[in-house]
Amino acid sequence: MKIGIIGAGNIGGALVHRFTELGHEVFVANSRGPESLAALANETGAKPVSVPEAAQAGEVVVVTIPEKNIPSLPKDLFAGVPADVVVIDTGNYYPRQRDGRIAEIESGMTESR
Ligand SMILES: NC(=O)c1ccc[n+]([C@@H]2O[C@H](COP(=O)([O-])OP(=O)(O)OC[C@H]3O[C@@H](n4cnc5c(N)ncnc54)[C@H](OP(=O)(O)O)[C@@H]3O)[C@@H](O)[C@H]2O)c1
Repeated sequence: MKIGIIGAGNIGGALVHRFTELGHEVFVANSRGPESLAALANETGAKPVSVPEAAQAGEVVVVTIPEKNIPSLPKDLFAGVPADVVVIDTGNYYPRQRDGRIAEIESGMTESR
């Protein structure tokens, strides 16, 4: 399968390794741009891309970045992406340790929204 991954940290990096080992075609993005992913690309064969490209690249797209950074993703990130593309969000809300209070979640919005 073609798989886009937004986030290349603990979770994203592990998924890039595992999915490429299994023969999937992986497109990976982080906040610093494709050139910062050269080592991961060399290790795994994944293709470093921009965040919008990763969102458009896959039959499956994994979003795996800190919850507090979700609002900084482009608002139209999934514009034009076919409705049958599966989006997997690994995010957890950690208001004390990392994310601070996110008002929308505190007032009931689901984390994955
Ligand atoms: N469900 C679970 O079992 C589970 C387990 C562990 C973690 N998690 C959750 O999964 C998420 C990722 O955790 P992690 O430990 O992998 O995080 P991490 O190691 O801190 O890595 C974060 C990654 O996100 C990228 N990133 C941050 N902001 C971005 C943005 N605006 N656009 C594109 N990329 C961005 C970072 O890129 P740069 O380095 O270039 O900034 C980095 O590659 C978190 O929400 C965490 O709580 C879930």
